[in-house]
Amino acid sequence: MEAMRAVQILNPSGEVTMPRPERTRVMCVANQKGGVGKTTTTVNLAVALALHGNRVLVVDLDPQGNASTGLNVPHHTGVPDVYDCLINSVPLEEVAQGVEGIPNLWCVPATIDLAGAEIELVSVVARESRLARAIAAYPGHFDYVFIDCPPSLGLLTVNALVAAQEVLIPIQCEYYALEGLNQLINNINLVRQHLNPRLEVSTILLTMYDRRTRLADAVEQDVRNHFGDKVLQAVIPRNVRVSEAPSYGQSVMTYDPGSRGATSYFEAAQEIAERGVKEPVGRNA
Ligand SMILES: Nc1ncnc2c1ncn2[C@@H]1O[C@H](COP(=O)(O)OP(=O)(O)O)[C@@H](O)[C@H]1O
Ligand SMILES: [Mg+2]
Repeated sequence: MEAMRAVQILNPSGEVTMPRPERTRVMCVANQKGGVGKTTTTVNLAVALALHGNRVLVVDLDPQGNASTGLNVPHHTGVPDVYDCLINSVPLEEVAQGVEGIPNLWCVPATIDLAGAEIELVSVVARESRLARAIAAYPGHFDYVFIDCPPSLGLLTVNALVAAQEVLIPIQCEYYALEGLNQLINNINLVRQHLNPRLEVSTILLTMYDRRTRLADAVEQDVRNHFGDKVLQAVIPRNVRVSEAPSYGQSVMTYDPGSRGATSYFEAAQEIAERGVKEPVGRNA
């Protein structure tokens, strides 16, 4: 069983495909709480979609550069990065790097320079829409652009919300899960009213689910009651293989494709892809 799953996930023949959207889906992966699985979700969904026939770009918008690390994309000081795009208007395509071993996947890395951007952006023209412009000007056609946000609601996250049509919120299955989400939802509403009318929360993903605890089940029920069918059926379990993968510069999809972590991210990616062709988002925009 495990071997069969691994073959389906690595898809060496290219036989297994996930449907491609009609138009590029720009998804902002946001939650101002740290450690809820934003980066892990970004990296693994991006790899899963790319391994199954989609062209995918990951934009690392967190100065910590964890998504760049997870995709094994160089992001030491001096490497051209998303900071150059935001502050110096360098085109994204000059900064994007191909991800080794995953043919349809590219990453715009973040270096530590990005830490200054939150403050430097304050005084630049069109400070909220720098990333939106950069993505819109990218000539390569992508099926998906995932933006991995920092754990804050500052100008970097606002840039991601202005650039996206969809917000994907990873929620960790723990007691305080829903606390603080109001603030994120308020910000999303403000951005929708003033800067990006097509923005919607399209997807909620439950992460780090520990099936041994009754609490995780209670949190899941809460989140499903609150967000209805925005919540993916697939739930990501707490799985040690998921947390080991980044130290090998890999996603769990490639590090241990037979693991439960890989399987559940594969299922989540499949659901996202299927939803995207059933009810294309942003159609009335
Ligand atoms: N499903 C999971 N099982 C086990 N560990 C996980 C899982 N998802 C994330 N982690 C670990 O939890 C930590 C926080 O995850 P991360 O994706 O970096 O969160 P964020 O980007 O929201 O700060 C990381 O060390 C990561 O490896
Ligand atoms: Mg992160």
